[in-house]
Amino acid sequence: MKMIKADIGKSSYNIYIDSGISAKTGALLKEKVRGKKVLLISNKKIYSLHGAKLKKTLDAYFDCKVLLIPDGEKYKNIKTLQSIYAACAKAGLDRSSAIVGFGGGVIGDLAGFAAATYMRGITLAHVPTTLLAQVDSAIGGKTGFDLPEGKNLVGAFYQPALVVSDTEFLKTLSESEYRNGLAEVVKYGIISDKTFFEYLEKNSKAILKRNQQEIKYLVGKSAEIKVMVVSKDEKETTGGRAILNYGHTLGHAIEAAAKYKGYKHGEAIAIGMLMAAGISKEAGYCNTATVKRQENLLKQYKLIKPLKKLEKKVIVAHLRSDKKARDGKIGFVFMNEIGTAVFEQNADMRVINKELAKFKIS
Ligand SMILES: NC(=O)c1ccc[n+]([C@@H]2O[C@H](COP(=O)([O-])OP(=O)(O)OC[C@H]3O[C@@H](n4cnc5c(N)ncnc54)[C@H](O)[C@@H]3O)[C@@H](O)[C@H]2O)c1
Ligand SMILES: [Zn+2]
Repeated sequence: MKMIKADIGKSSYNIYIDSGISAKTGALLKEKVRGKKVLLISNKKIYSLHGAKLKKTLDAYFDCKVLLIPDGEKYKNIKTLQSIYAACAKAGLDRSSAIVGFGGGVIGDLAGFAAATYMRGITLAHVPTTLLAQVDSAIGGKTGFDLPEGKNLVGAFYQPALVVSDTEFLKTLSESEYRNGLAEVVKYGIISDKTFFEYLEKNSKAILKRNQQEIKYLVGKSAEIKVMVVSKDEKETTGGRAILNYGHTLGHAIEAAAKYKGYKHGEAIAIGMLMAAGISKEAGYCNTATVKRQENLLKQYKLIKPLKKLEKKVIVAHLRSDKKARDGKIGFVFMNEIGTAVFEQNADMRVINKELAKFKIS
């Protein structure tokens, strides 16, 4: 079992990672909660695959009610949130109670926001079930939901009291959901840890086969990196957290250009990272060999999907219209070399456009 201590802002909590560790959730949560009542939030798919084990351990320590919400990003909205508040009230939750988010990033973000706001804040535990949630969304305290006007427009920073990442859960993920999380894992190697990047190069076969030993290692390492970055800049005020956006400025533009239909988040940021590396070279931050090395790893993990010509045009338009782009300047994360990245507040859009104009996926 791996335990990572997260000291983020005023909060300090543990992240437990192991195969089968979720069976201990009840006992681990008991140490953090005074009251008896717990609301477990999940969806039908996840709960039918893995819910029994978690319910049993929570039942052993708490009066645990279950709320299943519909599956999918389109339900990460205020209506679902209202149903969560109603379930909290119906279950009689008070300030000594807890909410357990059991699912991927969608459930984690909603459960987190509900815990942050119900009775002005009750205890929150994350039991993430996707690779993306275990390495990214369950760590760092961002919670929230979407509005028709845009994704993640309403939210709160709210740290959990406990994160329990059971790597067994990842066995039932679809191939594309698994790869979705791998894109973020590769990102951690690039922005912060060359040795980890080398590990990913050497062990791609075992990782793609989802060998538990390798998965446990990569979830642990990724969680450590995210905790380290986030703890320096809890609320995105100092810029320290910005390097997590490597590949994301362009990745988000790709997702938006394809109207959130053509690419999964991981695929979009994988292409975003390819472009960001090319731009980093153009701007004098890294050399061709480094760009190639990153490209090879992304290809090894089958993360690169062709980009359509039309989308490229829309991507450029989207970047120009980015609210953050002013006077031809934009905030952008460059790669220095494998293992280090740097956030530049006033990056020159001309360099970015020049690289984008000639960008091709080979
Ligand atoms: N809070 C943050 O810091 C943060 C960071 C990154 C992303 N996010 C948010 O996370 C969301 C994306 O999260 P996601 O990629 O986990 O998607 P998701 O929550 O939609 O889950 C993806 C799919 O996998 C299914 N699933 C989950 N666990 C499973 C399992 N063990 N076996 C089989 N199927 C399983 C889900 O039911 C769903 O259909 C987005 O809303 C995004 O905005 C938040
Ligand atoms: Zn991401």
